[in-house]
Amino acid sequence: MSGFQESWGSRLGLVLAMAGNAVGLGNFLRFPVQAVQNGGGAFIIPYLVCFLLMGIPLLFVEWSMGRFGGVRGNHSTPFIMDSMAPKQFIWRYVGVFGIFTNIAVAAYYCYLESWTLGYMWYSVSGQFSGMSAAEVSGWFGWYTGFDAIHNVVFWILCLVLNTWILSKGLSGGIEKVAKVGMPLLILFGLVLAIRGITLESGENGAVESGTTGLNFLWNPDFSSIWTPKVWLAAAGQIFFTLSLGMGSIHCYASYLRSRDDVALNAMSAGWMNEFVEVVLGGAIIIPITVGYFGVDGMKDLVNQVGGLGLGFRTLPYLFQQWGPVLAALSGLAWFGLLFFAGITSSLAMGTPVMGFLRDEFGMRRNTSAILFGLAVFILGLPTVFFFHYGVFDEYDYWAGTVSLVVFATLEIILFAWVFGMDKGWAEINRGADIRIPGIFRYIIKYITPAFLLFVFIGSLPGIWDMLTHKELLEQIQASPDPEQTTFLEKKMWFVNLSRMVLLAIWLFIAAMVYKAYRQRIQKSSPLNPTN
Ligand code: ALA
Repeated sequence: MSGFQESWGSRLGLVLAMAGNAVGLGNFLRFPVQAVQNGGGAFIIPYLVCFLLMGIPLLFVEWSMGRFGGVRGNHSTPFIMDSMAPKQFIWRYVGVFGIFTNIAVAAYYCYLESWTLGYMWYSVSGQFSGMSAAEVSGWFGWYTGFDAIHNVVFWILCLVLNTWILSKGLSGGIEKVAKVGMPLLILFGLVLAIRGITLESGENGAVESGTTGLNFLWNPDFSSIWTPKVWLAAAGQIFFTLSLGMGSIHCYASYLRSRDDVALNAMSAGWMNEFVEVVLGGAIIIPITVGYFGVDGMKDLVNQVGGLGLGFRTLPYLFQQWGPVLAALSGLAWFGLLFFAGITSSLAMGTPVMGFLRDEFGMRRNTSAILFGLAVFILGLPTVFFFHYGVFDEYDYWAGTVSLVVFATLEIILFAWVFGMDKGWAEINRGADIRIPGIFRYIIKYITPAFLLFVFIGSLPGIWDMLTHKELLEQIQASPDPEQTTFLEKKMWFVNLSRMVLLAIWLFIAAMVYKAYRQRIQKSSPLNPTN
C-alpha cells in the first residue's frame, strides 16, 4: 500500500488533465473516419445514445471507483478493485487489464504521437512545398519505413519528453502540460475548423465548399439505425475517445480526497471531450478533404488510407494549396494540436503503471517514470520497425479495442452488482456539486451492463475472424504475385508474434500483482516483527 502522498494542485488542473486524458488523437483522426465509414449522419445518433447510456455512466463509475481506492492508498486498478471486493481474489486479476492496456496502448500511441512532432518540424521547414499529392503521400510511406532514421529520433525524443514530464509528478508535470496544452489545442482547433467551414468552392483550387463536408457528417439519417455494425462502431468510439476501460481515469481520480466532487468533474471533462470531438474533430479533416476531392473522392480516400492516411498523407498536401505561409502555419496548428492531444493522453497512460510500482514496490517517482519509459520503448520497437507488417494495428485491436470492452464490462459488474448499487450510488454522490438524476442509478445497474454485454457479444464474430486471420488468409489465397504472398505470410508471422508479446505482458503484470499481494499479506501478518 501507498506510503507516498501526491495530489492535484487545483480543480481546474484536474479537470484539464482528465479532459486531456480523453481528448486525444482519436478525436481528430478516428472519430471523423468512423463517422464517414458508418454512413455520416447515420452514425451520430447511435454515437450520442452510446455517450448517454454508456459513456456518462462509466465516467461516474470509473471516477468514483478511483477515488474509493485512492482514499485507501491504491492507485492502480488491481488493488482499487481488490479494495471493493476484498474477499474475491478474481478482481485483482481483472484489474491487470487496467495496467496492461496502458502499457500496450502507449507502446504504439507514443510512436504515432512522435509523428506529429516530426510533421510539425517538416511542415514549418517547408518539406512538402512543391510536392504533388502522390509525393506527399509517398513521403509518409518513406517516413514510417525502415530507412528513415529521423522517425526514430522523433520517437525517442517523444518518449524522453513523456518520461521527463511524468517524473515531475501530477501538479508539477501533468497538470502544467494540460494547462498549457489544452487551451492551445482548442485555439488551433478553432482556427482550423473555421478555415475548414469557410472554404469556398473555387478558392485555391477547391471543388466544393467546406460546408458540403459538414452537411455530409451532420445530416441525420435514420436508415442505418438498426444496423448492429454502426452501433458497435459508435460504442467503440465512445470507449476510445473517453479513455474508458483503460484504468487511467481510475488512477487520476485516485488522487482525490474522499469528499472531493466526482460528479461535476466527470461531466466537465466528459463534455469537454465531446465538444472537441464532435465540434472541432468534425469540422477539420472531412470538410477540408471534401473541399478538394468532393464527397465521393473523400469516401474513396478514407477507404484507401483511413484516418491516419488523411491526417498525414492528405492534409499536408492540401495545406500547400493555401500558399507557403499559410501551409506552414496550418501544418504547425494541425500537427501541434495532434501533439498536445496525444501527449496529454499518453501521460495519463503512464500514471497507473507508476502508481502500481510506487504503491506496491515502494519505488521513487523518477525510477517508476523511467521504468515506464523503458517498457514503452521496448514494446514499441516492433511497432516502429515492423509498422508495415501490421504490428501497430494488432496492438491497437487487442489492447486499444477489445481489452477496453472486456474491462469495462467486468468493472461495471463489480461496481453495480458485487460492490452493490446502494454503496455505489452513495460513492458517486458523496461530495457531489451537482444533483445526478436518479434515473442513472437504474441505468448504471441495468442498462449500461446490458449495453456492454450486447457490444461484447456483438463483437465476438469479428474477434473470431481476427483470431483466425480470416482476412489475411483470404488475401494470401487471392494474391496473384509470389512476392506479395511472401510479404503477407511474413505479416502473419509478425501478427502472431505481436499477440504473443501482448499475452506475455498481461501474464507478467498478473505475476507482479500476485507478488504484490503476497507482500501485502506478509506485511500485515501478526508474525511480521514490524507490526
Ligand atoms: N482518449 C484518447 C484518444 O482519443 C486515447 O486518443
